[in-house]
Amino acid sequence: MKLLNMAGFFALVPTLVSALEPITTSLAFCGAAVMWQLFSPASWLKCRFLECCNMKDTLDIPALQMALEQKVFGQHLATQVVLKALNAYSRDKQPRKPLVMSFHGWTGTGKSFVSKIIAQNLYQRHEARRRFVHQYDAVLHFPHAEHIKQYKEQLQNWIRGNVSVCPRSLFIFSEMDQMPHGLIDSIMPYLSDREAINGVYYGKAIFLFLNNAGGDKITEVALDHWRRQKGREEIPLTDLQSMLSAEIFNNRNSGFWNSKLIQKNLVDYFIPFLPLEYKHVKECIQEELRYQGHQEDEDLVIKIALAMSDYPSEDRIYSSKGCKTVASKVNLDT
Ligand SMILES: Nc1ncnc2c1ncn2[C@@H]1O[C@H](COP(=O)(O)OP(=O)(O)OP(=O)(O)O)[C@@H](O)[C@H]1O
Ligand SMILES: [Mg+2]
Repeated sequence: MKLLNMAGFFALVPTLVSALEPITTSLAFCGAAVMWQLFSPASWLKCRFLECCNMKDTLDIPALQMALEQKVFGQHLATQVVLKALNAYSRDKQPRKPLVMSFHGWTGTGKSFVSKIIAQNLYQRHEARRRFVHQYDAVLHFPHAEHIKQYKEQLQNWIRGNVSVCPRSLFIFSEMDQMPHGLIDSIMPYLSDREAINGVYYGKAIFLFLNNAGGDKITEVALDHWRRQKGREEIPLTDLQSMLSAEIFNNRNSGFWNSKLIQKNLVDYFIPFLPLEYKHVKECIQEELRYQGHQEDEDLVIKIALAMSDYPSEDRIYSSKGCKTVASKVNLDT
């Protein structure tokens, strides 16, 4: 019976096609092509106009490098490591584990700023992919230490759910120093070296932890160099990195106190953000003036920079707020 139906259908096809006029046929074909493009998960059309998770996406390394070099002041160590790490990671077709980087430094030194630049360059057509960038603020999302059990479950569900939707997901955890003790260890399985967990592969995800912990130690090292009349460029990265890993493991207010993530070496890079000097604050002010469409005005730049002068150590070399309040100060003075 089925065979007879099929034979009847194929006998009718030539008649149907000749019955349709060419315009209707072309329209039908176009419609079908558009529908196919819209419903297939990583089609060209969908990725062009809507958010899509395209596994062919690669980091735009040259654009990232340019943005870091042009926009970030006084952070040669951090920008070098970030660039190298992302470059190496993006060349690996099937990374064994997600890339995990931990940013450390005083407030206003550029930790959130650099993570934003990474997010903007992570996907080829960056603007439409915000859906795959996930931000967790310890103060906002995990305010009560007594709810840690519930937070652990939420965090695991969020990560599992988001990576299932798009393996190339970016997770940014800010204010790590405010994170309830032990919470971050709940994501340990996802950061480990595994093929997949319950069918979900985590190797393409990127995790960034932003932390004020370690900032004082970084400043001590930088000051020590400065007092010995050595250049900022001579500060040794490896010393800072191993100091940071020990410091946050032993610091109760780092979010990583006695953390298994550190013990098991699941954080790939500890990235120091140096305290900013007066000249860097001036650069931030110049940039902000440009951004707000004002003329270059050296007197105004100096006036604002001096008004921001809150340099805590006796040597008065580093700004305690970095560039954090530059935008509001420029707003006030223009
Ligand atoms: N090194 C820098 N180079 C250029 N601009 C900077 C730098 N650091 C900070 N800024 C400017 O100051 C703003 C605030 O900095 P950002 O939010 O990145 O600080 P943060 O290190 O994340 O501080 P916090 O620890 O308080 O979160 C940025 O949006 C950026 O405009
Ligand atoms: Mg920040």
